[in-house]
Amino acid sequence: MSLLEARGLSIAFGGVRALEQVGFTVDRGEVLAIIGPNGAGKTTLFNVVTGLYRAHGGEVRLDGRDVTGLPPHALAARGLARTFQNLEIFFRMSALENVMVGRHLKERRRLGAELLGLPSVLRENRESRARSRDLLAFVGLEERADEPATGLPYGALKRLEIARALACEPRILMLDEPAAGCNPVETEEIDRLIAAIARQGVAVVLVEHDMRLVMRISDRVLVLDQGRRLAEGTPSQVRSDPRVIDAYLGRHGVAAAHAA
Ligand SMILES: Nc1ncnc2c1ncn2[C@@H]1O[C@H](COP(=O)(O)OP(=O)(O)OP(=O)(O)O)[C@@H](O)[C@H]1O
Ligand SMILES: [Mg+2]
Repeated sequence: MSLLEARGLSIAFGGVRALEQVGFTVDRGEVLAIIGPNGAGKTTLFNVVTGLYRAHGGEVRLDGRDVTGLPPHALAARGLARTFQNLEIFFRMSALENVMVGRHLKERRRLGAELLGLPSVLRENRESRARSRDLLAFVGLEERADEPATGLPYGALKRLEIARALACEPRILMLDEPAAGCNPVETEEIDRLIAAIARQGVAVVLVEHDMRLVMRISDRVLVLDQGRRLAEGTPSQVRSDPRVIDAYLGRHGVAAAHAA
């Protein structure tokens, strides 16, 4: 039994078959990359698995239990967290506050207790703040914890998003293009961060166009093309697969994939 399993997922938008019978599994400490050309269905697969879209067919299992169709917050409470392809940062809030937003799922507080300022709530707030600072340290942002997010460089914002997703203490972390728009130095920081997250036992599912990053840190790679599974295997199997080279990597991508 896998920690997370998607099986036969299908969805269409009007005439576009965004996913046709796509599945994958991922386990503790593993890094699974999902790659493929623009419009292949990668983000749609994330959206279906995390409960944002409802599949027309197929199922999602967490710990072997059917969780198909559960809303995102219910899946998050069961240990499934994600980041989005476009930055979803609250720019006027501090870095620390952005991470604390991600913790609200973990906290059981009720409004009444909050308004009364009960000791349990105060303690929880303190713990939450401390834990959020630890996470900022983990992603290398402890010195900028109290700055407004708007002043942070792009690579730092991408790491802040990962810290926020980690704040609900997920067992599975799904990252949609965590290094998109990053320069090579920032990409390497993200690379090291993802490896460290996986070493802690989190299952990581990663969508990424940076082939060096994908080849360096993935255990397995799933290749999508036009909503279908084109190939799946280890990084070295996938980068030498003629179908993958043809549909996605091209000559440039092959060079990057081998430079990893
Ligand atoms: N909410 C939606 N409404 C209509 N069409 C959609 C929707 N979401 C995705 N699609 C379509 O589904 C297909 C797959 O899109 P998706 O965003 O999953 O691709 P992707 O692999 O993430 O691409 P990219 O690498 O550019 O991010 C595309 O044809 C897209 O236009
Ligand atoms: Mg996408």
